[in-house]
Amino acid sequence: MPKKEKKLKKSRPPSPAPGLILAIETSCDETSAAVVSFEREVLSSVVLSQDLIHAPFGGVVPELASRQHLKTILPVVDEALFRAQTKLESIEAFAVTQGPGLIGSLLVGVCLAKGLAYFYQRPLIGVDHLEAHIEAVFMDYPDIPLPALALVVSGGHTSLFLLPERLRYRLLGRTRDDAAGEALDKVAKFLGLGYPGGPVIEKLAEAGNASRFPFALPRMKDNSLDFSFSGLKTAALKYIKEKRLSSVSPELKDFLASFESAVVNSLIDNLSLAAMNHNPEAILLAGGVARNRRLRRGFLELGKEIGVKAYLPTPELCTDNAAMVGALAALKLKKGLPLPSVLELDAYARFTAGRE
Ligand code: KG4
Ligand code: ZN
Repeated sequence: MPKKEKKLKKSRPPSPAPGLILAIETSCDETSAAVVSFEREVLSSVVLSQDLIHAPFGGVVPELASRQHLKTILPVVDEALFRAQTKLESIEAFAVTQGPGLIGSLLVGVCLAKGLAYFYQRPLIGVDHLEAHIEAVFMDYPDIPLPALALVVSGGHTSLFLLPERLRYRLLGRTRDDAAGEALDKVAKFLGLGYPGGPVIEKLAEAGNASRFPFALPRMKDNSLDFSFSGLKTAALKYIKEKRLSSVSPELKDFLASFESAVVNSLIDNLSLAAMNHNPEAILLAGGVARNRRLRRGFLELGKEIGVKAYLPTPELCTDNAAMVGALAALKLKKGLPLPSVLELDAYARFTAGRE
């Protein structure tokens, strides 16, 4: 190499290596790890589903879930590091879902993240699961206008938030009983359609007539923005018994389309009411059930109807994943939010942090 060129190379300041976060998510039945840069670029994201383990029971069995996380979390982390072409020594911060979720499952991720952060003397960022779901939308659309309404719909949660600014979340309403995804899963279980029920119902309902089986939508008496799905679920189970519906009934597709449509309408009606009350600049949809095409359509239609921009995450980012945990952690780091000491960080099953 000519001398001149060599000199030029030497005098150049070293380019700062992008800081990397290793994020871990074990709140329910997905074991996930991701490597995300401080600039929120996802270098790798590994999600190992436990669906096959829980399918025979028609729902998540908490003890099996935590035991499975324990078996798979290390290979999942290894795979995430391998795909990002990095190693633990190069990780500059660790992030983990603290809750809400299944406590035994959460503790597996929290214990590992604490151990790593302690050993490598790196910061540890605890992340709220619902806030991470909302963050999945910002990963694709970083400039969403605020204030916004965010509806998180999953197997464990149905919650509506007002976001006055980034990293501030005001809870406006939540389910008083079952979550929307839980209602879909339970009806599928009752019909012996497998687990998780949401995607199976979506597939079968696609060709069905959604107006064949009438369902009365829940109405809150006190004008609250809370949700309720146990009434819809009970009405569905009653139909199944009365009409002797099974996985081979010819009316099954129409029945599932009607039920899925009732769940979607109930979600959209509440979001519409909240939009009238709060006049947001944007509406966001997140969580596992946000993969559902009928819900996505209804959500985008609502946005058009009320003249508000509507944002959806890509389907892969709707269901539980550690990439959204890493992205939220990167933002928290950038904003310089105070971090708890590594040894103090704990998991929580219900309590929600960082809320107004
Ligand atoms: O967010 P998530 O992965 O886990 C929780 O935080 O609960 O959501 C899982 C839920 C399950 O209830 C599953 O049935 C539902 O999301 N789900 C769907 C679809 N894909 C997943 N529901 C309806 N349609 C889908 N395509
Ligand atoms: Zn979730």
